[in-house]
Amino acid sequence: MSLQECLQKLASKQDCRLHYVLTAINIANNAGNIIKDCYHQVKTVSTKDCATDLVTDTDKLVEKLIFSSLKTEFPSHKFIGEESVSNGESSELSLEPTWIVDPIDGTTNFVHRNPYVAVSIGLVINKKSEVGVVYAPILNDLYVAVKNEGAYLNGQRLKIVNPPSSLSNSLIAFEWGADRDSDVLALKSRNLLDIMQKHQVRGMRSTGSAALNMCMVACSSLDLYFEWGPHCWDMAASNLMVEEAGGFNTTTLGCDFDLMGRTIISAACKNIIEEIVPTLTQIPTRRDDE
Ligand code: IPD
Repeated sequence: MSLQECLQKLASKQDCRLHYVLTAINIANNAGNIIKDCYHQVKTVSTKDCATDLVTDTDKLVEKLIFSSLKTEFPSHKFIGEESVSNGESSELSLEPTWIVDPIDGTTNFVHRNPYVAVSIGLVINKKSEVGVVYAPILNDLYVAVKNEGAYLNGQRLKIVNPPSSLSNSLIAFEWGADRDSDVLALKSRNLLDIMQKHQVRGMRSTGSAALNMCMVACSSLDLYFEWGPHCWDMAASNLMVEEAGGFNTTTLGCDFDLMGRTIISAACKNIIEEIVPTLTQIPTRRDDE
């Protein structure tokens, strides 16, 4: 089934998610055009929680545009956005339909003109992702997922086939995040060393975008990605991409995926999650809803 066929199916069933997904795709395209226009320009950069936690004027502008368009279409829905939360708005997630948005996932990449940047728009209902759109405007990759109706890259269905039999056959990814606290860095370094030594993985990548790492698990460019620190706006759309492609999301303890929990393992198959979890030394993280 192509994305076109999926949309036709939603239309024939008069499924209200058709309106949600078409709106999200349209808004992601508009947001992507702004990101493309600004990509080669000098950015106005400021910092948030620490010197390595960057935000640009484009992040703020794009989030405003996305929210004003979504609010016009869906005035009764709730909204959580990376830059709004950093301006003091609540990140509490209720059971109501909630749009969770990262205007630029991979802001540091954007500042440095590294192409792994993406707009992430997820619609969460009853605390579960129903629709996810991730658009990487520089790479020109549009990922779309609809709960129980599949995940798509540039219109083509994503299906994970031939997942690796073990971590030793896997290409995996990890992110450092923005925290430069020496204890946190020591624990992260220790985890990387332990995984490399114990499991002899084929490679360890770091793209700088949590959302795109998860999308790459969905399209089999990565077998597993793990991190302590991503926020709900990094994962609200992309967790659905992984699940709908036939992959799995858990916490770093291997428990059920928790959108607000700030830890993630996304993988092509369960056996490599079961292999990696006992190797991991856990790192304390603060939940998004605390
Ligand atoms: C960050 C990126 C980064 C990941 C962080 C995220 P941002 O998002 O996805 O790769 O390590 O956990 O917060 O700040 O670029 O939107």
